[in-house]
Amino acid sequence: MNKSLPSLTLLGLSAAAALVLTGCDREAASDPVARGRHIVENVAMCVDCHTPHLPDGRLDPDKTLQGAVLPFAATVPMPWGPSAPAIAGLPTYPDDESAIKFLMTGQTNHGVAPRPPMPGYRLSREEAEAVVAYLRSVTPGKS
Ligand code: HEC
Repeated sequence: MNKSLPSLTLLGLSAAAALVLTGCDREAASDPVARGRHIVENVAMCVDCHTPHLPDGRLDPDKTLQGAVLPFAATVPMPWGPSAPAIAGLPTYPDDESAIKFLMTGQTNHGVAPRPPMPGYRLSREEAEAVVAYLRSVTPGKS
């Protein structure tokens, strides 16, 4: 009788995930840069690692996405990237397509995956394009 429950639950979860990724902000829906900013700041949380924190725990608003030494580390031996590079302006990805591919596959333009805790994202093309458009709009060395 309850056979359809698991699939219904799955459907509900996918709908919730789609809602989170799509965002409800009208501006973000029509403007790729605003949509990218929403994903970077509120969904994928790139800012948490790629922006330095102030002593009180807030993100430093003058150093948005300018790279940071991570304030945490793995508790077991494992591959680990102790700092997150600057991604404002995406200086290490001169062409958009390789950056988009990186965000869609998790593979860098050198064909490898960065070390944890950098997540291996599987964004849709539209999401990846929006994130790249936003990152390009952030001036390197400025907020
Ligand atoms: C949990 C922390 C964390 C989050 C969240 C995170 N990153 Fe990273 N990222 C890192 C670390 C650490 C590295 C460096 C890994 C290494 O040294 O191998 C890195 C590396 C990178 C690189 C360089 C890849 C290369 O070519 O070597 C890019 C670009 C990048 N991240 C973009 C992003 C974007 C865009 C997001 C959000 C969509 C994001 N990161 C979210 C921690 C994070």
